[in-house]
Amino acid sequence: MKNRSLSRTLSVLVPYLWPVGRNDLRIRVMLALICLGLAKAANVYVPLLLGQTVDDLAVIGKSSMTALGIPIAVILAYGFARWSATAFSEVRDALFSRVSQNATRQVALKVFQHLHTLALRFHLDRKTGALNRFIDRGTKGIQFLLSFVVFNLLPTLIEILLVCGILWYKFGIQYALVTGITIALFIWLTFSITAWRIKIRRQMNEADNEASTRSVDSLLNFETVKYFNNEAHESNRINHALRAYESSATKSRESLAFLNIAQVATVTIGIVIMLIMAAVDIRDAHITIGDFVVINAYLLQLSLPLNFLGTIYREIQQSLVDMENMFSLLDEVPEIQDAPDATNIHISNGSIQFKDVSFSYNDNQALLSSVDFSVKPAQTVAIVGPTGSGKSTISRLLFRFYDVTAGIIQVDGQDISQVTQHSLRKSIGMVPQDTVLFNETIEYNIRYARPDASDEQIYEAARKARIHDFIMALPDKYATRVGERGLKLSGGEKQRVAIARAILKDPIILFFDEATSALDSKTESEIQENLKEISKNRTTIMIAHRLSTIVHADQILVLQNGTIHERGTHQDLLSLKSLYAQMWEEQKRARNKTA
Ligand SMILES: Nc1ncnc2c1ncn2[C@@H]1O[C@H](COP(=O)(O)OP(=O)(O)O)[C@@H](O)[C@H]1O
Ligand SMILES: [Mg+2]
Repeated sequence: MKNRSLSRTLSVLVPYLWPVGRNDLRIRVMLALICLGLAKAANVYVPLLLGQTVDDLAVIGKSSMTALGIPIAVILAYGFARWSATAFSEVRDALFSRVSQNATRQVALKVFQHLHTLALRFHLDRKTGALNRFIDRGTKGIQFLLSFVVFNLLPTLIEILLVCGILWYKFGIQYALVTGITIALFIWLTFSITAWRIKIRRQMNEADNEASTRSVDSLLNFETVKYFNNEAHESNRINHALRAYESSATKSRESLAFLNIAQVATVTIGIVIMLIMAAVDIRDAHITIGDFVVINAYLLQLSLPLNFLGTIYREIQQSLVDMENMFSLLDEVPEIQDAPDATNIHISNGSIQFKDVSFSYNDNQALLSSVDFSVKPAQTVAIVGPTGSGKSTISRLLFRFYDVTAGIIQVDGQDISQVTQHSLRKSIGMVPQDTVLFNETIEYNIRYARPDASDEQIYEAARKARIHDFIMALPDKYATRVGERGLKLSGGEKQRVAIARAILKDPIILFFDEATSALDSKTESEIQENLKEISKNRTTIMIAHRLSTIVHADQILVLQNGTIHERGTHQDLLSLKSLYAQMWEEQKRARNKTA
């Protein structure tokens, strides 16, 4: 899995390092590489200049010379080299920042777009909070890998080789060997301890996800929590998840301490051995005091990026874990896909046919079996039936949120599984049973149906949905914000916003799923008139609970136990004296009682 994600990650990232069609970014990459080279060159040169200074000063001290010209020049050069090593590194990071930010944005966008191609089933099964975190962490991981692997890890390895070469050349192979062995030990130690730490990190991530999912879910259900006085229960649930995070985070920190101590021990042992070797060599006059300084400076200087190497390796592992999660999202294959040769649906008059459609959400029991009906162009068909009988499911099938298990759904004679989802959905206006609104203004939510609609078109749609006057009476009118998921509006107001935006969409097929169920009967009958008007030239399917709202339908389907139990006009069904007639009688009695 690790290898898969590593190669996967690299193949995803490399194109962003040399982005096609972005010469500005390519120039940045090149300049950053030049800065990198300059910074490293300066870095390697610094200890040599320092050693030179020491030796020059030692000569002056012995010969009681007073001219300081040469040592001061070398000291100045030393200062400049030191400064430029840092300065070039900073310029490099500043230049590269846009490249890595650009990559992060592109990948985040890609994942986001992919999430929108996945089916409803996926989203109902997933936790939104967790999805967000996957993207969040994953993109941070990308940022890290790009900046640190390219500009820190690889250059550090090169620097190590360079320093080993200089040590070998100037002082003998034994110094290069000790350095090499120390570093090899260091890397081995880091890798093996980190492999163990990775598991802890994974637990920590999972616990974190769980805590945040629970917290989001709990806050979304704020009202429900209050209805049942269950604050303590909610705290317990969160606390449980937080406690799991607490212990894995603590374990993670403890293991980090262990790793750091082991790392420093390795480096220190290497340094001490080298300095003893240097001391012996000075006694034997093989090297100078200046050389001793050079060796010490090199080792200290190497130990810095070496410590860094450990951090980087750990971070790479972490980033890979995080990116693994994000890429697992990209690996999700959309359940509903356009057929390979799908064409745009060609709509002339909007007839609908369900031919022996069967469906089940899970593979077990069939929810719909052999549902068969057709809606002629511009007709209005009503679907009634007990709750849970599958009425809303029919709307989801027509909209192709799910594919049928058997049978065919046709719109204008075309199998909807063979046309593009985009063109199909464009031609259907849906007012769902439960309307959820964006946490934006009312205007934004209505305009969502047609972003280029004029204000007047929006007002017109709102008037038809009988919501315009209500909106105009609000202090902020159309600019009123509706709150998260639209919760600042009442059920009936939300429904009317949903109707307005379906009207604004102006589709050939309209589907109302209990779209007026939350309205009082006065408002409902007012809207009913408008809906009749709107659906005059459109094929309309209405799911209704209150039968009085659908008496005018051209055809009424009574759905029960997954099949169409009865069908016909209101009068037909009444004379059948069966299920529909019973429901009608019951509702009439209830109406008379309240009236
Ligand atoms: N996404 C889903 N996964 C599994 N079962 C579902 C899903 N959505 C609805 N159901 C079940 O399918 C049945 C029909 O649901 P629905 O079509 O919404 O009924 P209704 O006729 O009240 O609109 C219900 O028993 C419901 O629990
Ligand atoms: Mg329903």
